Amino acid sequence: MIITLDGGAASGKTTLARELSRHFEIPLLESGQLYRAITFRALQEGISVENSQALEKFVTPLSLEMQEDQLEWRLVINGKLDNPQNLREVEVSEKVSIVAKAPFVRKRLLSLQRSCYSKKRGGYLIGDGMDLGTVVFPAADIKIFLKVSETIRAKRRQEDFKALGMSMTTEQVGIIEAERDRIDQERKISPLQVPSGAIVIDTSGKTVLETFLELIRLINIKKHESNPVYRIIRSLAAVPKFHLNLRQEGIENIPQTGGFLLASNHLSHLDPVMLAFASSRTLSYIARNSLFQGSPLFAWLISALNAYPINRENPDRKTLTQIIQFLLSGHGVV
Ligand code: C5P
Repeated sequence: MIITLDGGAASGKTTLARELSRHFEIPLLESGQLYRAITFRALQEGISVENSQALEKFVTPLSLEMQEDQLEWRLVINGKLDNPQNLREVEVSEKVSIVAKAPFVRKRLLSLQRSCYSKKRGGYLIGDGMDLGTVVFPAADIKIFLKVSETIRAKRRQEDFKALGMSMTTEQVGIIEAERDRIDQERKISPLQVPSGAIVIDTSGKTVLETFLELIRLINIKKHESNPVYRIIRSLAAVPKFHLNLRQEGIENIPQTGGFLLASNHLSHLDPVMLAFASSRTLSYIARNSLFQGSPLFAWLISALNAYPINRENPDRKTLTQIIQFLLSGHGVV
């Protein structure tokens, strides 16, 4: 599952993405850090980032790789990680949008960002940024877009700078952030936009906790929906409607009396349930024993649906005997 949180400067996306990552123990990709890291290094080398040729000459030979450390993906440049505090410096904040609009920078960072999500690694990622739901992960499962009023945004950034020991007025901060948003929104590649299908949340009048709880509720609903137990329960709830629309072929091959063994295709989790709806005979199921060893609720549910565990690795004499008994006593077995 991929969750994206996009939004303008100081919309609260990074704070919220970080809290959600900790809460659900899902790795976090804070994409702004990647652009900031390249900007920081370029400034360190005295590169004038406004000069596109000089910037490209600097960026092209850089060795870039992503590294996950304590649930956070970070960009390693030429084998070295930067201190996150340095990436928040005023000069970096002022110049990062210029670096971020360069096509050669975005192109390199795109594949690196995508490499942070892998189904094998548990299949979860929370990403925050500006184009995560539009360009980087357009097929994300949950897309959020956070908005904030200009006054609140300037205040939040002022507090960020204060935490870094820099004193700036709200006006000064407002000017930097407004300019950054202007460049981010007007650029040709991956401009800041509301992703299609995104839930838009205005964080201006809300505390971090309020928005956090709202997001948790949304994510839990989605997680619940993709849970096989839930899907089975839902399909059970839809039985009458579904039964009317079910197209059945070859159903006459199921004998009206006596035992029978039904070897069905099993393309989805619902197939066994659908078979139960299609057949007028009561069915028993033989299912691999690992299904009974995970969630107790699921084990309870499939047991309630007449499922019996079988060991597929070794001959399972007990269950095979049970199947024979079922068949002999006139049951249908799937
Ligand atoms: O999120 P943060 O304030 O750290 O982002 C810094 C800058 O990085 C943004 O203003 C934007 O120019 C750039 N950025 C981007 N695309 C992203 C994330 C950040 O262009 N997905």
